[in-house]
Amino acid sequence: MVNIYLIGFMGSGKSSVGIVLSEHLKMPFIDLDQTIVDRAGKSIPEIFAEGGESSFREYEAEALRSVETEGAVIATGGGIIETMENRSVMKRSGTTVYLHTDFASIIERLKEDPNRPLWNQDHSKRQALYEKRLPIYKEWADVTITTNDRTIHEIV
Ligand code: S3P
Repeated sequence: MVNIYLIGFMGSGKSSVGIVLSEHLKMPFIDLDQTIVDRAGKSIPEIFAEGGESSFREYEAEALRSVETEGAVIATGGGIIETMENRSVMKRSGTTVYLHTDFASIIERLKEDPNRPLWNQDHSKRQALYEKRLPIYKEWADVTITTNDRTIHEIV
């Protein structure tokens, strides 16, 4: 079964869009961050605090492989595209949809969020992360949808 992977920066609406899209397509919905939390038995801030980002990325890669054959709409975490391994898993097992949101809108949506350790840093680092990832999302997307002023139903 083929998955639909929603990729994009933190705050681009992957989970909100994913739930509605899955209902529309009558496919199961999987929130990969939730899969990570369930498998680890720890929250995302706890994983980062205990083992750093590298530990989180290991959990994330394992979680991704565990859902490869589900035939689901999968909301990924913003950093899923950081490794070639994850990008290959998504390419071989589904269609990748990039929800593009400009940085100003992301700032507006997220404000401060203690549950997102990589957002919880100074402005220049947030922006550098966004700019580093932008070309990777674009390159690995089968479909790109700009979300800025669109409602969830329009995006679906
Ligand atoms: C991350 C994004 C988060 C979560 C973790 C790391 C990232 O998911 O996976 O905090 O590296 O961008 P969302 O994109 O759902 O916020």
